[in-house]
Amino acid sequence: MDALDGIIKQSELAINAAEDLTALDLIRVQYLGKKGEITALLKNLGTLSPEARPQFGQIINQAKEHVENLLTARRNTLEVAALNQQLQSETIDVTLPGINSTVGSLHPLTRSLQRLIEIFHSLSFKVIEGPEVETEYYNFTALNTPEHHPARAMHDTFYFADGRLLRSHTSPVQIHYMQNHEPPFRLIAPGRVYRRDSDMTHTPMFNQIEGLLISESGSFAELKGLLQSVLEQFFEKKLDIRMRPSYFPFTEPSAEVDVAWRSEDPTEHSRIHTKWLEILGCGMVHPNVLAACGIDAKRYSGFAFGMGLERLVMLRYGIPDLRLFFENDLRFLKQFA
Ligand code: DAH
Repeated sequence: MDALDGIIKQSELAINAAEDLTALDLIRVQYLGKKGEITALLKNLGTLSPEARPQFGQIINQAKEHVENLLTARRNTLEVAALNQQLQSETIDVTLPGINSTVGSLHPLTRSLQRLIEIFHSLSFKVIEGPEVETEYYNFTALNTPEHHPARAMHDTFYFADGRLLRSHTSPVQIHYMQNHEPPFRLIAPGRVYRRDSDMTHTPMFNQIEGLLISESGSFAELKGLLQSVLEQFFEKKLDIRMRPSYFPFTEPSAEVDVAWRSEDPTEHSRIHTKWLEILGCGMVHPNVLAACGIDAKRYSGFAFGMGLERLVMLRYGIPDLRLFFENDLRFLKQFA
């Protein structure tokens, strides 16, 4: 019994002093392991008289239980401490400034073109493309604009020495397509066009979207309905539009389309006023154009239109100067992120 008391006292001291789980386990082995001090006492029970055995057995077992409880309690304490320490060393200071990643954005022209394409897709128009370097035939002649026709002067065209040219509009894409496909057609052809022009409202390169619908029943009424719907979807509001008689060699009749635009221009004495702004040209495709593409103008008819993308985007976002699109000033571009 004397030995047992000493063993208990020592084990209590050792357990309380154990700094970590490894040390604690060594203590467990020292007292309760196979060759542990308390285990040895239990093994010695056999040397006692049968009468004494139960009493001593009980005392030693109580001591064993006591030490086990102390070990468990200490283990819990050490585990909690270890966890706290781990949590502390791994804390994230959420108040530290983050690592910025700079995300680019689509150019307003790209973004608006994508929207327009979606709108036309929803109306079953498909998107086609054509070359930017053209011949006079595609840019003019096939579009019912023969050589020396005054309408050629409507566009200040860039010519190459070999007589080819930079297309001055997207209308020639109509011709390429019609020559190689059978009607009906419902398509748009967006792309760059070039003219010898440069000032606040003109740049030598800009973007157009050409549209073409040819069927056995294409009508001017359908043209008007389509444009109204597309423009209202693009500007996301109800619009008043007006069609004004005009002239293009490749359409007959031809019209220019204006939208009624309310402006709140402070230079106009804060007066809200409505202006008619021209936004596109259109008309019923001229029979000569269909004929140049081998299409039977008695059977098929339809309309075409051409609009300036920059013009539409300037109106939609209130952008005052066309040149902003091409300067790549981040202060401008970031506003469209
Ligand atoms: N190509 C014309 C231009 O650049 C725009 C245009 C007008 C296209 C009428 C058309 C159209 O398809 O029918 O000024």
